[in-house]
Amino acid sequence: MLKLLLASQNPGKLREMQAILQDLPIQIISPVELGIQIHVEETGESYAENAALKAKAYAQASGLPTLADDSGLEVDALNGAPGLYSSRYAPIPNADDGDRRVFLLKNLAAHPRPWSARFCATIAIAQPDGEMHYAEGACEGEIIPEERGTGGFGYDPIFYMPEKGCTIAEMDEDEKNRISHRARALEKAKDFLLVLAEKT
Ligand code: IMP
Repeated sequence: MLKLLLASQNPGKLREMQAILQDLPIQIISPVELGIQIHVEETGESYAENAALKAKAYAQASGLPTLADDSGLEVDALNGAPGLYSSRYAPIPNADDGDRRVFLLKNLAAHPRPWSARFCATIAIAQPDGEMHYAEGACEGEIIPEERGTGGFGYDPIFYMPEKGCTIAEMDEDEKNRISHRARALEKAKDFLLVLAEKT
């Protein structure tokens, strides 16, 4: 059976990716299980470049095919910010997800609503020999000024989806895993993973 390493130290992302890939005939492995803890500088200029940097580093460290994602929130009124810098957005040391949501809302306060936005994700799957495969997904919605819900992570409590009538943090995990940017990218990567699994 194909062993696939998920290159993420973010527990929220790991949980989601494990759930979305669980129906594949693939043994999903987390870095913790292998005792691997590496910090990869996200120096790329696109989600794809950052995902590839992470996938490659973990594939080299483990010798296993490795899947990494890079994702971000793009807010139109802020010309696509925080985008690539979503996980580092907030000018205070040791900022957490809550600090980043507060900072985003502060920056948006002077702009007229609705604050249209999208989550974007790119998946990179690295083979130990360096070959790379990519898939992308996006999820459209709008930022709202008050937090709603306790599920998910990151910007989920302020990311509202009008057609669902709720924020992502108000959805149950299964629903988020059907509609999220990461779910959509992973869905596109599934055929490639199945071919890889058949070869193993
Ligand atoms: P990275 O992909 O590890 O660089 O981090 C992307 C950042 O974008 C996360 O730390 C979150 O702040 C944000 N983000 C990505 N995906 C989601 C999501 O599904 N919900 C909420 N925030 C997200």
